[in-house]
Amino acid sequence: MRVFAYVASRRRPVSNTVRLLDLFVDQLRTQLAEPVDLKVARPFEWDLRNCLGCEKCFNAGRCPLDRTDNFDRIKEEMLSADLIILGTPVYAGMMSGDLKTFMDRLAYWCHLMRLAGRYGIPLVTASTNHALETTATVAQFLEYLGLCVPFTIPCNVDVPAMLEDPRFAHDRLGEYAGQLANLYSVGTLTASTYQQRYFTNLQRMYGDDSIPETVEVKFWRQHGYLQFTEFADLQAALRKVQQQSSDFINNRATSEYASTDLDLEPMLSANPGLVLGHTGPSA
Ligand SMILES: Cc1cc2nc3c(=O)[nH]c(=O)nc-3n(C[C@H](O)[C@H](O)[C@H](O)COP(=O)(O)O)c2cc1C
Repeated sequence: MRVFAYVASRRRPVSNTVRLLDLFVDQLRTQLAEPVDLKVARPFEWDLRNCLGCEKCFNAGRCPLDRTDNFDRIKEEMLSADLIILGTPVYAGMMSGDLKTFMDRLAYWCHLMRLAGRYGIPLVTASTNHALETTATVAQFLEYLGLCVPFTIPCNVDVPAMLEDPRFAHDRLGEYAGQLANLYSVGTLTASTYQQRYFTNLQRMYGDDSIPETVEVKFWRQHGYLQFTEFADLQAALRKVQQQSSDFINNRATSEYASTDLDLEPMLSANPGLVLGHTGPSA
């Protein structure tokens, strides 16, 4: 399983959120039948620039800042991952500024539900409060991106000191890891009610033949997003594509994404398991 994690804390050498991530991934390694390839990105390594609000990402499919801070390399990592983890400490009752910057830079991917077919997990540490609220906000963002979010991992580090308590640090994290390992091995991806509603609304908009053919409309057409009524069916189909042709995706989808031409039809049609124009993953 390929895992990409962005941990939006600048504390080093020891970050509570990194500790939580390591504990969870250790559990995952014991529960999965295959190796876990973990890539972790931290804010001090990347120094991502704040969104300029130019809207080029929505209109042209690319962010002009990517060339400055290489954020496109992070996006490539996410596109080739099976699981994406966003980790943050709670700052003043919410996510850190570094995580918000990261999320803003991905806003246009929300319109594309670009990461559908993968799993996403929010992981939050707080001293005493707002871990739950923050995981809920991050989970909603992950769902916007199209990810299946089977659970969230909120953790207080002081009151209660959950990282020091084996009932959480071992047992609970072990349960989470087991749940994910089961879903992953069977290939099950679920869609929340909210996610289905969001998908249906976007589909109505992008499926309207009378609207101009924007980059976003092209993406929805070329990725087969208009062929599925149920978001869960699209997730399953994309998961199949991801599994069957990970090399193809790694080599092609990411480089194509750097251009304004989001023609991923070849990626889909290269897979006998997914035929455009049919509904459902078994088509
Ligand atoms: C600027 C700042 C604001 C914080 N605000 C909160 C807060 O509102 N609620 C809380 O419970 N903890 C708060 N904390 C504590 C951190 O969330 C907590 O120590 C976290 O585990 C740190 O994670 P890290 O070591 O990965 O950076 C704050 C810490 C800092 C530095």
